[in-house]
Amino acid sequence: MAKDPVRVLVTGAAGQIGYALVPMIARGVMLGADQPVILHMLDIPPAAEALNGVKMELVDAAFPLLKGVVATTDAIEACTGVNIAVMVGGFPRKEGMERKDVMSKNVSIYKSQASALEKHAAVNCKVLVVANPANTNALILKEFAPSIPEENITCLTRLDHNRALGQISERLNVQVSDVKNVIIWGNHSSTQYPDATHATVNTPAGEKPVRELVADDQWLNTEFITTVQQRGAAIIKARKLSSALSAASSACDHIRDWVLGTPEGTWVSMGVYSDGSYNVPSGLIYSFPVTCKNGEWSIIQGLSIDEFSRNKLDLTAKELSEEKDLAYSCLS
Ligand code: NAD
Ligand code: LMR
Repeated sequence: MAKDPVRVLVTGAAGQIGYALVPMIARGVMLGADQPVILHMLDIPPAAEALNGVKMELVDAAFPLLKGVVATTDAIEACTGVNIAVMVGGFPRKEGMERKDVMSKNVSIYKSQASALEKHAAVNCKVLVVANPANTNALILKEFAPSIPEENITCLTRLDHNRALGQISERLNVQVSDVKNVIIWGNHSSTQYPDATHATVNTPAGEKPVRELVADDQWLNTEFITTVQQRGAAIIKARKLSSALSAASSACDHIRDWVLGTPEGTWVSMGVYSDGSYNVPSGLIYSFPVTCKNGEWSIIQGLSIDEFSRNKLDLTAKELSEEKDLAYSCLS
């Protein structure tokens, strides 16, 4: 028997990530090839015509799984009954801007959309915040939507996770699908800590630690980290626009694994509400290694953290605490 459609909200749907993301969702990349979807697309009035154009293209593409499209500039209409909310709407960083520069514009959007989601989304709606500053926007959304369970509000660091896999695959000349269990700790910013300490590669001789195969700790402790930390800025420099297809694809990965589960023995990185694991202060949305099962994530426990890593975990937590204070000062 055919499944009931799932309602998926994409905010900022007329923007460049939205344009890459909605066809992926309509094709089943996010929720599976047997899962019908109804897309809810929200943007602001100046983008209404472009948003309608995206709707026309969705109709024209005749996606078999797409059972309906709501395209609107009304947040309440957009949020009503949604099971999954992918929050992309906001102002992107331009060349030369730090992520903090976009803070004041974006946190006030997330405060107001928190209320619309809390009041009108389906019970147990899962929320993924993509728009920057992603961790802090997600935190503001959580704080102003107190009736949404905190475990349902997450932010995207899967793009950074995938970037880390990509860098290792290029360095070792192996398939990216054979690399797993990197970790992105902390903020989706240049203080994030891409950690390959526990990562492995599937080789003909079995699973091998990345640290053994790279045989150059210096690269893993320096260039690997900075390349992943700075990749967003490098894309902006090259494209004069921030990443879009990789962000959209990673957003699909994030939701797919959350809803359908992570493969056995594999963890992924998600920005989630800290419970104090690894001595990360609670009260922050922080990226941790997680596994997902039955629609719930849980933080991998018991990984060894050496002094090098400890300092990096603390540094990115400190930045998130400062961003939180700045966000509240922007809202007051
Ligand atoms: P974009 O400017 O192309 O699109 C953003 C869209 O949001 C626009 O259509 C705009 O009209 C809309 N918008 C603005 N205010 C809104 C509101 N209040 N409600 C609904 N829609 C609204 O930007 P983009 O390149 O698609 O990037 C979107 C966001 O994602 C940016 O904040 C960017 O920095 C961020 N981003 C995050 C990651 C990540 O990994 N977390 C990666 C890439 C980009
Ligand atoms: C990215 O990581 O590509 C985006 O978050 C762009 C940015 O603002 O860094």
